[in-house]
Amino acid sequence: MSRLTIALAKGRLLEPSACLLERVGIRSVCGFVDSRRLVAESVDGAYRFLVVKPVDVPTYVEYGIADMGIVGKDVLLEEARDVYEPVDLGLARCRLVVAARCERIGDALLPHRSYRVATKYPNVARRYFQERGIQIETIRLSGSVELAPLTGLADLVLDLVETGKTLAANGLHPIAEVADSSARLIVNRASRKLNAARINAFIERLKGETV
Ligand code: PRP
Repeated sequence: MSRLTIALAKGRLLEPSACLLERVGIRSVCGFVDSRRLVAESVDGAYRFLVVKPVDVPTYVEYGIADMGIVGKDVLLEEARDVYEPVDLGLARCRLVVAARCERIGDALLPHRSYRVATKYPNVARRYFQERGIQIETIRLSGSVELAPLTGLADLVLDLVETGKTLAANGLHPIAEVADSSARLIVNRASRKLNAARINAFIERLKGETV
């Protein structure tokens, strides 16, 4: 029987993902969280784990390098990869919001103007504003997005909010909700058919652990 490969997202989702796998009886031979290892195996040898940047998890799964992956819905919305998404794992719940220095959307968005939106999610931002007939220019940043309105780089941000502390600490206010996010299990479409029994059993075990 071949090993199943699971892509895990580096960063804040790694520890909860590893804990969830342990709860369904899948333990890595070495801990991921404090290790620099990018590949590991489960104790029983049935699973291999790849530790990659969150944005790359859907890529590894779509191309079949990983059979499955655990990644935030925010990344799936941005990347729009062709993968099967059977389970909301309920981990790392947060929101994608538009935020500005003004507290009210009416003050932040005037008609007949184009806005510069700083974000790690340019595709989500384009879709969101286009659907509302608001012209924007997206400025792709890879972190510390909240700095953009403070320095004049952008008028607005579209970013993840978990506790809201980063927005508040930088004098920004959420003015519109874009989407809810939480960690999802994703599965390669071909692998799901080839390994149907094992993957379905794994999905059922995860469903029993979702919060
Ligand atoms: C994320 C996000 C916000 C912050 C929100 O950034 O982009 O900046 O967390 O969390 P809060 O609502 O609990 O304050 P991350 O910590 O991943 O760092 P980054 O700015 O380098 O992307």
